[in-house]
Amino acid sequence: MQKRKLGKSNLEVSAVGLGCMGLSFGHGPAVDKQQGISLIRAAVERGVTFFDTAEVYGPFTNEELVGEALAPFRDRVVIATKFGWKIDPRAERRPAALDSRPEHIEDVAGAVKDLIQQGKVRHFGLSEAGAKTIRCAHAVQPVTAVQSEYSFWYRNPEKEVLPTLEELGIGFVPFSPLGRGFLTGKINENTAFDSSDFRTQLPRFTPEARKVNQAVMDLLNNIAQRKKTTPARIALAWILAQKPWIVPIPGTTKLHRLEENLGAADIRLTPDDLREVESAASEITVQGARYPQHMEQMSGR
Ligand SMILES: NC(=O)c1ccc[n+]([C@@H]2O[C@H](COP(=O)([O-])OP(=O)(O)OC[C@H]3O[C@@H](n4cnc5c(N)ncnc54)[C@H](OP(=O)(O)O)[C@@H]3O)[C@@H](O)[C@H]2O)c1
Repeated sequence: MQKRKLGKSNLEVSAVGLGCMGLSFGHGPAVDKQQGISLIRAAVERGVTFFDTAEVYGPFTNEELVGEALAPFRDRVVIATKFGWKIDPRAERRPAALDSRPEHIEDVAGAVKDLIQQGKVRHFGLSEAGAKTIRCAHAVQPVTAVQSEYSFWYRNPEKEVLPTLEELGIGFVPFSPLGRGFLTGKINENTAFDSSDFRTQLPRFTPEARKVNQAVMDLLNNIAQRKKTTPARIALAWILAQKPWIVPIPGTTKLHRLEENLGAADIRLTPDDLREVESAASEITVQGARYPQHMEQMSGR
């Protein structure tokens, strides 16, 4: 597996990481613990050195799973975790609160700075932060990486976040790089999601939106056929082709899909391919917001 450096930091990780959320949270029932551990260890065997988790996934159980799975390889891998949501374990849905006031950001950056000085944390990252927040935090404690949603059908970070990261030499970690599964071609208007699946709450995943959004899949399928590969790999290769300091973290609970996704690192999209994709994509309007309005308002942008 090729490696990439996250921005100008010396933090080098596999070109494709593994998002571990879906093993415990968000996409229906959690997988059996041993199955989760096996999948994470299979990723290590295949050269993955970058694993993403968060306190809120579970809550807490995903961090424990990732920690247990990676304990034997701790000196060889990088674990990214996140905090910041108020977690009420009794709440059925967790309407959480965020606080993006500058003084709060300086508190958080200052607290992480202390943890780095104590050797408990290696690097500082932010998730879903806007350009202003990134600059503010970076001034207190240099930010190594920012994680935000970015994929073939959600390109918002291109407006302000990616130019800011390039200027400051910060790496970028796109989450939901497979469009929460849609960009693999395995989801259509008839797909039934478990009631606990987060996608049931997303405007972009209503059956009507999924039907319209097949236009995105038609485009990815065309390129995949020409390149003799799969749309999932094209979706990831397209991200990898944007900048050398970007490392996507596709999530899966299945070994054969993990292998498929890791294969994206070997796909090369030429400047001609990219231009063609760009021109075809500009004809497509994706239907449905990525998040319901109340959640989008909580995002740090
Ligand atoms: N910072 C944040 O706010 C935030 C938010 C969301 C996610 N994340 C992180 O980003 C990671 C990835 O995001 P995500 O899980 O939302 O979305 P994703 O990686 O775009 O898609 C994951 C979904 O796609 C399916 N899938 C994966 N590979 C596939 C393949 N080759 N063919 C067909 N289906 C495939 C998975 O199902 P199976 O399991 O059945 O394969 C799963 O339902 C998460 O694990 C988490 O660590 C961060």
